[in-house]
Amino acid sequence: MPETVGDRLVRGDKGKWLDALGGALGGVVGGFYRIPGTRPIKDILHGTLVLRHPLHPALTDVVVGGYTVVAILDVLFLLQRDAALLGSTDVVLAVTLLVAVGSILSGYTDWNETFGNERRLGILHGAAMSLITIGYGLSLWIRVGAGPDRDPAIFLGLGLWVLVAVFAHLGGEMVFGYGTGVNRQAWTHVPGKWRRLDLRADALEDRKPVRVEAGDGFAAMVTKVDGAILAIGAACTHAGGPLDQGELVGPDRLDVKCPWHGSVFSLRTGAALHGPATMDEPVLETRTSAEGAVEIRARGRRSAAAAS
Ligand code: FES
Repeated sequence: MPETVGDRLVRGDKGKWLDALGGALGGVVGGFYRIPGTRPIKDILHGTLVLRHPLHPALTDVVVGGYTVVAILDVLFLLQRDAALLGSTDVVLAVTLLVAVGSILSGYTDWNETFGNERRLGILHGAAMSLITIGYGLSLWIRVGAGPDRDPAIFLGLGLWVLVAVFAHLGGEMVFGYGTGVNRQAWTHVPGKWRRLDLRADALEDRKPVRVEAGDGFAAMVTKVDGAILAIGAACTHAGGPLDQGELVGPDRLDVKCPWHGSVFSLRTGAALHGPATMDEPVLETRTSAEGAVEIRARGRRSAAAAS
């Protein structure tokens, strides 16, 4: 990958200390999600359930915006000494802290499905933002208890805002530098017109998926289910895992579980049913040619948008 500030901070021996921190926190996060019944919490925090979009970046926007509003109100107070600003500042900071807790939980949930330097950068970003949140909590506590003499809490808040600008940036580098959470099917060219695959329909065995290159860099996972031929994208939208090597799950084994981080997709609709993936797979129509070859083309609105 191209060299970025974040990558320079974490690569090689320099970033080894982050592995120990990541190991400890990964144990906590992974351990929690191994508790039976926690799957819906995980899916909500990834954004797979309810939002149907990554939750963490939606919350971080609110958090960074909230801290920035607090910084502006604090500077205004320092300039004007207008006590009418104090109540508003406290409310904005309290609400921002509440959202920050959700942001931290969703961030660690997403982070625990990363590896390598991406994981190192993620734990640096996450640990720093967690400490910053504690610092803002302290700032609020001082503000509420200090009456009009708030200068220490205000200067603490302004210092933290500078740290927010630095360490939130590292979270952005995870997405823009490493591609964390970016839909791995975003640039694939799903065939919009019928395309013949190098696959005979009678070679398919029931519920034994196969991966077939369909041209233009797009690979389909084709599965025969009770006589019907179903096809979705073969690369997991989360991080590109090979879905054709995944396990078929669900009551009728009509869903596929990614072998890398356990996202589950419907074979019928391509929908992401469980995270960490939040984006659906392209879903394809299938038919069998007169010669017995399987043919596919994009189905549905979402696939049509990416179709060629
Ligand atoms: S690549 Fe992560 S769940 Fe599939």
